[in-house]
Amino acid sequence: MALKIHWIHRSCYLIETPTGKVHCIESLMPQESRNIIIPYLYQKLGVYELESLIISHYHFNGHMGGAGTLIEGLNGRINNFYSTNVISTGNPETTYEPDILWQERLFDELEKYNINHEISKAGDSFQDGEVTFDIIGPLDEYAYPNIEETDYPNDESGLDVKISYGDFSFMFHGDKFKSGVEEVLTNMSDPTATIFHIPHHGDVSRIDSDMLNLVNPDFATPEQDRGAFDLLDDNNIDYHQLLDTDIGRNREGRDRIIIKGYMDGNYNIVENVEEVVRISKI
Ligand SMILES: [Fe+2]
Repeated sequence: MALKIHWIHRSCYLIETPTGKVHCIESLMPQESRNIIIPYLYQKLGVYELESLIISHYHFNGHMGGAGTLIEGLNGRINNFYSTNVISTGNPETTYEPDILWQERLFDELEKYNINHEISKAGDSFQDGEVTFDIIGPLDEYAYPNIEETDYPNDESGLDVKISYGDFSFMFHGDKFKSGVEEVLTNMSDPTATIFHIPHHGDVSRIDSDMLNLVNPDFATPEQDRGAFDLLDDNNIDYHQLLDTDIGRNREGRDRIIIKGYMDGNYNIVENVEEVVRISKI
């Protein structure tokens, strides 16, 4: 059996482990979780539940927005929900209204289905067979911030995870600022990763060349962050193996799905998005 990292859309990944369980990172938007994530699970993977849903932070746009809809769509068949301690507070200066609305929706669904909720920070980890999920952020000092003293508590305290299986690893960061990502990386005993989802916020990259060298990925998933492509070029990192297939030509990455499987030390592109879209429209 293989570990498969399915890059679904934007920052959303499905992690299929050798035990046959599936973990979801980020939940996209409500309509996307319903129209993309669930059809993908059911029709492409033949899986009807999630072992875990991992949300980096309580911002609607692409991160937490689809979580309540996803739980409802799965009739509560999610065994564990991982998040940070920092929810959106409703401060009109810093809060986008849908953050509050959809966060409440999410909490209603968690309660309705009695889903185990693990508040996580750096140092925590969980296991699925031989696959290890290490929570690498937020660091202690950001895990319980004084909400009054920071303008961006959700971003600064975002959850980051490194998933390891043998000598393979996949690293994902939330919307931290550059300094925050750097702190997390320099705190790690092993900051390297085989596949690195380049952290960004909108079109703003959250890493620089030094950080990219620290992670030293074989492959990177830059999503729509145009600056990230320049970084990859500058650092001579081989992302072309991803991009030179029919799945990666669109630099914005918005309407593409990359599925990479890791099996016996080899990387395989398995499917592309057109088939999934077609299936989901049946
Ligand atoms: Fe954010």
